[in-house]
Amino acid sequence: MCSAPDLGDVPKPELYHELAGQLRALIEGETDRIANLANAAALIFHALSSLNWCGFYLLREGELVLGPFQGPPACVRIALGRGVCGTAAANRATLRVPDVEKFPGHIACDRASRSEIVVPLLGADGTLLGVLDLDSPETNRFDADDEIGLEALASILAAPLNRL
Ligand code: SME
Repeated sequence: MCSAPDLGDVPKPELYHELAGQLRALIEGETDRIANLANAAALIFHALSSLNWCGFYLLREGELVLGPFQGPPACVRIALGRGVCGTAAANRATLRVPDVEKFPGHIACDRASRSEIVVPLLGADGTLLGVLDLDSPETNRFDADDEIGLEALASILAAPLNRL
């Protein structure tokens, strides 16, 4: 079994630097995208505090379809432009929502969610592959350090692949 070291209360930039190294090691030499995304979801979910959901939606024939995740069962299909995930995907830009109740169109898969961050997975040519989605039961859980760190993780996952 693979186990990650306890990262305790290290500052976020250090935490994400450590996670990036662990993620590279986890996916090195493995080309199966489901396996890599499943391990990535588990790594992030167990390393970051105050999450109730962490996972991927993958672009399939013009819509986002649920991929590997950690947390309660979630909605399976999300149209581009809908909810936090579909909006981030359509704009190809990270979207941080400090209070989901104030985001018009937020899709409440888990009623415990209070804040959310969605990071697009983009191929080398900028093609949208999917999104990484994190939910928290705390309002305002995700800050600029999370955004930078999660974007780095997303680029590690997307870089070796033309499609997910
Ligand atoms: N809240 C998301 C839906 C996905 S779940 O959070 C897992 C949204 O508004 O797109």
